Amino acid sequence: AAVVEHNFTVGGMNISQLCMDSVIYTANEQMPGPTIEATEGDTVVVHVVNDSPYPLSLHWHGIFQLLSGWADGAHMITECPIQPSGNFTYRFNITGQEGTLWWHAHSSLLRATVYGALIIKPRNGTDGYPYKAPYGEIPITLGEWWNKNVDDVEKDAHLTGLGPEVSDALTINGKPGDQTSCRGAGIFEVEVEYNQTYLLRIINAAVNVELFFKVSGHNFTVVAVDASYTEPYATDVIVIAPGQTVDALMTTSATPEGRYYMAANVFESKTVQIRFNNGTVTGIVTYKGAANGTAPSMPAMPAPTDVVAAGRFYWSLRGLVRPVDPPLPTTVDHSMLVEFGVDQEPCAPDQTRCGGFALVAFMNRNSFQFPKNASLLQASFDGVPGVYTEDFPSSPPPLPGIRKATAVKRVNHSDVVEVVLQSRAYSSALGTENHPIHLHGFNFFVLAQGLGAFDPNATYNLVNPRVRNTVIVPGGGWTVIRFVANNPGMWFMHCHLDAHLPLGLAMVFEVLNGPAPNILPPPPEDFPKCY
Ligand code: C2O
Repeated sequence: AAVVEHNFTVGGMNISQLCMDSVIYTANEQMPGPTIEATEGDTVVVHVVNDSPYPLSLHWHGIFQLLSGWADGAHMITECPIQPSGNFTYRFNITGQEGTLWWHAHSSLLRATVYGALIIKPRNGTDGYPYKAPYGEIPITLGEWWNKNVDDVEKDAHLTGLGPEVSDALTINGKPGDQTSCRGAGIFEVEVEYNQTYLLRIINAAVNVELFFKVSGHNFTVVAVDASYTEPYATDVIVIAPGQTVDALMTTSATPEGRYYMAANVFESKTVQIRFNNGTVTGIVTYKGAANGTAPSMPAMPAPTDVVAAGRFYWSLRGLVRPVDPPLPTTVDHSMLVEFGVDQEPCAPDQTRCGGFALVAFMNRNSFQFPKNASLLQASFDGVPGVYTEDFPSSPPPLPGIRKATAVKRVNHSDVVEVVLQSRAYSSALGTENHPIHLHGFNFFVLAQGLGAFDPNATYNLVNPRVRNTVIVPGGGWTVIRFVANNPGMWFMHCHLDAHLPLGLAMVFEVLNGPAPNILPPPPEDFPKCY
């Protein structure tokens, strides 16, 4: 096993995007930032210098962080952020996982520009893939762009008490493509050989939107999601929620010497108060030998409201069962019903542009509050009282009333946790929407899902459930997940729509140390602390 070492400096960079010049914050003046490429078993070391004016933490989305919970990068959950001019070295091993993951800032809306791919290759190279080794790989990181400084977008969201304004463009590998009103906006273009199979590593790094993705004239075979292999699934459209990844094979067997658009547009699941970015981002797949200037053909994209196409994709995926993977646990130690949603509350005094009500979000009537003076992990490790409570309820307390609290659910090492994630509409004025729920530190099995209220008689897939770290809970519907809490630490579970995180749509699992060697070591020497 090797050590994969990177230096990331997060600082300002001038960019001309959508015919406007602005300064954004990125890692190493790249957007997307550097790709981390490692092999299963490697150690990743990232020296981070914070040259930005904002407190910063970097999260390695989907990495288990086995006994390295200090490196998870969850702002105020596992660490106090790296202060401006500060630095910190993240160090973690990659054990028992391979495929496409990603990394992103986990403090404020910075993640709109501070993100990149994290690719884990199998130990025995391309022979390790459970499918025929692809001829080449194409990275597709989907993002969202605001003309305005994203810090102001976030401040405005708070001052108005409403969600952030709609983004100005979608991007593929940082570029908005050629369908915007800005002539000469950048576009991602890739050259391919005719009649070869490529692995598309697709990441949804967008802040608030689920996306449809297509390549005209081509079909896909999905082979993995969230760095977990799936049974091969044939489709002409990929549906991907913020935080998720999809590995898909694509064979370049359309007309030789052709040019084909790839495109992504928003899948909008809101049932009321619908406002979304209705643009289409494009990229170009150019076959070798294509004549310069050949006009690419455009794929027919699903309508933004095509719930049928979205549901079919999300719900059809099945896990690939391999003897080397951890089996589905058959008994459950904690059976939880976590009901969550977004509601309205009176404006707070500092919400100076708020007109009547502000949004608030919660899980089991607890609106998650980030602690101010210590990260949860540090507080637990040092035994600092008063930072959090251990009374996160295992089922929804009776209505009404929302508690603002930093409540965790405490479980023993190796306990099996099953959670029914139940999305609810709390007012007809707000309606429902899909929520991508992400769990740090673990993969989970997705056993069942449905619309409406959870059905206790629902059939679970206990044979080949898909394995993910981020799952869509359908608006007003439910999803059942199960995981083994085999890693001590403080593990965030939250909605990966960034709009919902500051509103409190989150909770934390505190996993206790197990018998040796399952004990969290002390934090690294240079660990950013608040006290
Ligand atoms: Cu990708 Cu807590 O996030």
